[in-house]
Amino acid sequence: MGKSEAVKPANGKLGILIPGMGAVTSTLIAGVELAKKGLGRPVGSVTQLKHIRLGKRYENRRPLIKDFIPLAQLDDLVFAGWDIFPDSMYDAAIKAGVLSPEQLAPVRKELSAIKPMPAVFDRYYVNNLTPKQVKKGKTKMDLARQVIADIENFKKTSGVERVVMLWCGSTERYMTQTKTHSSLAAFEKGLLENSVDISPSMIYVYAALQCGIPYANGAPNLSVDFPAMLELAQKRGAPVAGKDFKTGQTLMKTILSPGLKARMLGINGWYSTNILGNRDGEVLDNPDSFKTKEKSKMSVLNSILEPELYPQLYGKYYHKVRIDYYPPRGDAKEGWDNIDIFGWMDMPMQIKINFLCRDSILAAPVALDIVLFLDLAKRAGLKGMQEWLSFFFKSPMCRPDLQPEHDLFIQQMKLNNTLRVLMGEEVIDHSGLDYYDVKKGVPQVAAPPKPYKKK
Ligand SMILES: NC(=O)c1ccc[n+]([C@@H]2O[C@H](COP(=O)([O-])OP(=O)(O)OC[C@H]3O[C@@H](n4cnc5c(N)ncnc54)[C@H](O)[C@@H]3O)[C@@H](O)[C@H]2O)c1
Repeated sequence: MGKSEAVKPANGKLGILIPGMGAVTSTLIAGVELAKKGLGRPVGSVTQLKHIRLGKRYENRRPLIKDFIPLAQLDDLVFAGWDIFPDSMYDAAIKAGVLSPEQLAPVRKELSAIKPMPAVFDRYYVNNLTPKQVKKGKTKMDLARQVIADIENFKKTSGVERVVMLWCGSTERYMTQTKTHSSLAAFEKGLLENSVDISPSMIYVYAALQCGIPYANGAPNLSVDFPAMLELAQKRGAPVAGKDFKTGQTLMKTILSPGLKARMLGINGWYSTNILGNRDGEVLDNPDSFKTKEKSKMSVLNSILEPELYPQLYGKYYHKVRIDYYPPRGDAKEGWDNIDIFGWMDMPMQIKINFLCRDSILAAPVALDIVLFLDLAKRAGLKGMQEWLSFFFKSPMCRPDLQPEHDLFIQQMKLNNTLRVLMGEEVIDHSGLDYYDVKKGVPQVAAPPKPYKKK
């Protein structure tokens, strides 16, 4: 992989095209606009707030990630997208009720100017919504061509240099891979023949990748994670990532379970339940959409706990996940976890977590980081699956012969080391053994911290 010279600079504007402009999208755009005016802080965003250590600890080099790597600036972001509802981003933000009207007031003009384009939509895949604006076409290929035309038009009219696409649409029904997904040729045949195996989200992915645009999936549905799309991504040089933003309860799971396992504490059961009252919750009230989400939420623990290696500790644990639609709560989701653990001499203990979170407040910074890093990936010449972005996803994509990495801290190391490799910095293994090797002339007093100078 390349050194810093290989990463092209982030010159010009970056377009962010989003299918699905509901709670997460309006919260993301509102937050970016507020941060640009200095009226809100991008809390939760790795690209905006986090430092990265470079070299040995005694070198004291810890720049902000955004000073270390060439990333698009918030001032250079231009948002657009598609939805089945014509609401502007201001109206969508008011309906979502995540940020208050008082918070939104200073960016009302900017948000009101962003109105979704008519969507590719089919109720077979998302049953609980009645659309107001949808594209019409004889075949799914016609619909894909219309999305490609939208993308090209956006590029022309907005003056952006580069574009990234992020799916923030509703969770589609549970689907598994079929022959239609097995190769690009089979998929294109399916588009022409209106195959039921092709959902609207896949049509957006196809359009994005045909244009060489990076794509990430913020929802758990099958959309980019199959051979046909990976073939197209390679062919057109587009990086892809997914899937399902890791926020809320699953984030807590991937923080806590690696710790319990690191200390070899056993688990007998993990019961997770949520109440949620936003449109996402309404969609997930449908069993077909819930099944997609459930699969995504369930996969996390097994991969971290490795019951096949530790049958005594994790061989029999019972894992249950529930989501209940409860309108009064809106976006202010409440999650409860009861974890039955056991320790020395098999003595049982319990951990309870009651997380009163705000779904879109946790998802917006993740969405921002994903698009900025995908744009970086494209400028670094990376294409296809970007496993180093696993940190942001509940069901990280990886080679089919490998186990996905769910542990948040391993994911973080992967992310940081990838950034170091891209910029020609040493990969850090954290053993620290050489710090104590006086004979090798290792400095025994750390250098004072210095402000980071861009290469
Ligand atoms: N908020 C979180 O913490 C979080 C975490 C993980 C995943 N997600 C996923 O992110 C997605 C967005 O979440 P949200 O809370 O913003 O939901 P939301 O319901 O507020 O917004 C989704 C939007 O997608 C639109 N939509 C549905 N199908 C579409 C299509 N084919 N084309 C264009 N638009 C379409 C809907 O009309 C809606 O406005 C959901 O799939 C959700 O499961 C959210």
